[in-house]
Amino acid sequence: MCGIVGYIGDQEAYPILIKGLHRLEYRGYDSAGISLINNQGTLSVYKSKGKVSALEKSVEGKDISGTIGIAHTRWATHGEPNATNAHPHFSQSKNLSLVHNGIIENYKSLRAELEKNGMTFCSETDTEVLVQLVEYMMNSHRCDLYTAVQLALKNVVGAYAIAILEKSHPDQLVCARKGSPLIIGVGTTPSGRKEFYLGSDATPIIEYTNQVIYLNDEEIAIMDRTGRLDITNLSNVKQTPQLVTLQMNLDQLEKGGYPHFMLKEIWEQPAALRTCIRGRLNVVDKDVLLSGIIDHKDKFLKCRRIIICACGTSWHSALIGKYFIEEACKIPVEVEYASEFRYRNPVILPDDIVIAVSQSGETADTLAAIQLAKEHGAFLYGICNVIGSSIARATHTGTYLHVGPEIGVASTKAFTGQVITLCLLGLAIAKEKKTLPDELFHILVDELQQIPDKMQWTLENNKDIDKFAQMFTYCKNFIYLGRGYNYPVALEGALKLKEISYIHAEGYPAAEMKHGPIALIDEEMPVVVIAPKHGMYEKIVSNIQEIKSRKGKIISVVTQGDEVVRNMSDYSFIIPDTRDCFVPMLAVIPLQLLSYYVAISKGRNVDQPRNLAKSVTVE
Ligand code: G6P
Repeated sequence: MCGIVGYIGDQEAYPILIKGLHRLEYRGYDSAGISLINNQGTLSVYKSKGKVSALEKSVEGKDISGTIGIAHTRWATHGEPNATNAHPHFSQSKNLSLVHNGIIENYKSLRAELEKNGMTFCSETDTEVLVQLVEYMMNSHRCDLYTAVQLALKNVVGAYAIAILEKSHPDQLVCARKGSPLIIGVGTTPSGRKEFYLGSDATPIIEYTNQVIYLNDEEIAIMDRTGRLDITNLSNVKQTPQLVTLQMNLDQLEKGGYPHFMLKEIWEQPAALRTCIRGRLNVVDKDVLLSGIIDHKDKFLKCRRIIICACGTSWHSALIGKYFIEEACKIPVEVEYASEFRYRNPVILPDDIVIAVSQSGETADTLAAIQLAKEHGAFLYGICNVIGSSIARATHTGTYLHVGPEIGVASTKAFTGQVITLCLLGLAIAKEKKTLPDELFHILVDELQQIPDKMQWTLENNKDIDKFAQMFTYCKNFIYLGRGYNYPVALEGALKLKEISYIHAEGYPAAEMKHGPIALIDEEMPVVVIAPKHGMYEKIVSNIQEIKSRKGKIISVVTQGDEVVRNMSDYSFIIPDTRDCFVPMLAVIPLQLLSYYVAISKGRNVDQPRNLAKSVTVE
């Protein structure tokens, strides 16, 4: 949801900023812009509608020199996506330029106030209000930029990560955050001086330095060419920056020979999940070790209820987690859409544990939901992929997925990473609470260890999905059905298809079909049924018969060797046998591939589907 990049140092800023924008394009891509101060002290702003590549074309032949700059790729909230509303925004005098990620909730009243004081606006955005407000503070208080930012932000309600350039001070860069992420990279120039990078996440920074500082909420930072970095809070109290070493490498941010990040990430799943369980699942000792549980054992022993808050795909993995934790640990688990939970006065009891599941760790609704739970005294556990993310830092403890950066907007390896992490969590709690017989616990540990290999088998034995998918290029609707652990897989399969091919799809618990969706079934309707040998096999077979007798086309996900469902289906994807509770991690793979190849056959941009953003940092 908007990406910010910044640089100040000895190098030319433009190539760093453009490369950074490409890396952040997954966060939003409806318009982009860049602002630089050249060696003559000219502050320029270039903006264009569309992708970063359109911005690159639009600056051909223009002066893009300068060793300080800020840039932005936008996912529109206030104001339609066009060049005027794109960031950076100038202040009225054109002495300041500013980029922003977030939402200023009181921008209308601030704008009215500024207009009363004679300021005029060019765009419809909340961001322009911010830059004008900073300029207004500089003028009315006769103060420097840093102080003006502090004063301005005290008047702002909402979320922001901002970076600002000042024409009359070309040797300094100012930034601040609250609610939206911002990272400062600290590098060294060839002459041995410090240089600074800014990024909404680490991806635009890692190529240059692995030393970063995660800015905290309500902190403002100033960096200059002498290598000075000062951070204070809004009340001007000096903060001590914590330098963190990033664990990320550049290869993880490249497509590595695949045509799209999504396909790469689908194929990466076996390796990613092996990394996720490494050191946590011990097949020799038949043990599960999660430090988040070991260190807070008492909380889990006395916990009477778990609430999981999440959005999108993470909500689907949370649902699988609920089924598993309830079965393994005998603790009631509620799964909540974070956006609903945060606004409905939920009952949160003292011994509740609230788990946030979020790939990015930045989803605004999930963050707000756990903040609410924290106010009620709940113990917070984060399951995030992005290290150092806001949710990871706001929770008391947690478990990182360690599946590597996920760039494709449609989540794939993070989903299976979340499911396996929730399974580890369930086993770790069950071990403490002694809710599973030893024999079953050992069987589950052994079986979970084999899941990455079985995922690899699934990928290698469903290679013709690309040809099969072409049959659905012109299809208008799909239904996905599953029961038990595979109901959330049906939801996830349908979501994947919607997100990247724009075909309408609905996921349903198979038995609920007779209460509505069955009316939609005719010879035009493909129905994807997840029908593994375990779970409610007989029941799902009769659901398939109900669809067949209404001439629906059956696409099934079946266990290797199951000829019965295979013969009833128009087409089948095969997965290896596993425990019922672990089937989702295998069954979702052909559904990810199906959505990918249907989208390709429709000529869609699978990595950057329309209207979507990977990290939803606004509510
Ligand atoms: C967006 C993304 C989804 C993701 C959801 C929740 O909608 O496009 O892929 O599942 O946000 O994101 P989170 O980072 O909290 O898992």
